[in-house]
Amino acid sequence: MNPGGMTPLARRLLRRVAAGGPMNVAEFMASALYDPEEGYYRRRRPLGREGDFITAPEISQLFGELLGLWCADAWDRLGRPTPVRLVELGPGRGTLLRDLLRAARALPPFAAAIELHLVEVSETLREQQRAALGEHAAIWHEDLAEVPEGPFLLVANEFLDALPIRQFERAPDAWRERLVGAAGEGLGFALSGPLPPALIPSALRDAPVGSVVEICPAAEALVSEIARRAAAGRSAALLVDYGYAEAPLKGSLQAVSRHRMVPVLERPGEVDLTALVDFGALAGTARRAGAQAWGPVPQGHLLRDLGIHLRAERLAVQASDAQRAALASAVRRLTDPAEMGERFLALAITGPGAPAPAGFAPPP
Ligand SMILES: C[S@@+](CC[C@H](N)C(=O)[O-])C[C@H]1O[C@@H](n2cnc3c(N)ncnc32)[C@H](O)[C@@H]1O
Repeated sequence: MNPGGMTPLARRLLRRVAAGGPMNVAEFMASALYDPEEGYYRRRRPLGREGDFITAPEISQLFGELLGLWCADAWDRLGRPTPVRLVELGPGRGTLLRDLLRAARALPPFAAAIELHLVEVSETLREQQRAALGEHAAIWHEDLAEVPEGPFLLVANEFLDALPIRQFERAPDAWRERLVGAAGEGLGFALSGPLPPALIPSALRDAPVGSVVEICPAAEALVSEIARRAAAGRSAALLVDYGYAEAPLKGSLQAVSRHRMVPVLERPGEVDLTALVDFGALAGTARRAGAQAWGPVPQGHLLRDLGIHLRAERLAVQASDAQRAALASAVRRLTDPAEMGERFLALAITGPGAPAPAGFAPPP
């Protein structure tokens, strides 16, 4: 943090609320993460042991390899569209993609059919992705809308949780929106005026005081776009993130810095902000856009179905004792319900009539 105790972006946001009044939580998140000069994802190197957090592909090569096999299998089930766009949203340091492409070589016609498209806002991470990909050619985009139409396989791990959410809170008299305004010297939460009862879904009218509902318009728009494209045929998407299938009526916005939770409003631009992903809502969005939605299933189930134990055993054959212990620990972290196994969920999206993707049972 700078010596004044407040980040440059916090000072700017304070001036903004002084001039224009409080902003909603999505506006705060969008500035904190994506402000062109001071946004967290524009400036920092968030990932890895030296960064703020570690993601599944950074824990073990097993994760990216299994997603690669999922893609190869989906490509085969979809009738082997060639060429096929392999799209990753938010590829981080490029680790997942590197492991995925290595596994894809198990099915050479798939590896040969791939045209790589990466959606990434961070220039710093784009450079790391370029380095991780080596000789693989790729095209970078700011937004999925820039990726040409046509058959695709899309993967996104820990991408949706960064998209800005709005929060609504049941106050004693009415539902109100949570806002970010000035409080003392810094930023603080406030509530909007009462929302008209006609805007509140009937299921929420009697929710207990203190209940919080979160919506993520950016994730809804993105999934709608993925589903619209998938509905055109011969495509599949796999979205993995920490989230829930049924809204828990609790706020989930959190800030992380150097692997620790920190106050959400304190250091905008310098800390990572995320919220749990509402997979139930996104599955509905995908269906309304004309696609099939599969799951969500817990990450642990998906990885077990895709053969994580067998793959780890194979790698263990040629490993040292230390490497074997690291593999066992990685499998546990990725699949154990008390670790990432159940907190992380996976949702798949395919066109109508496409067969169930690996790891996702057909609906009863
Ligand atoms: C939490 S990291 C996950 C990285 C990687 N998928 C992994 O699992 O290690 C989020 C990634 O998404 C990128 N990102 C975040 N929001 C984005 C947005 N709105 N558009 C494009 N990229 C974004 C970040 O720069 C970063 O590469």
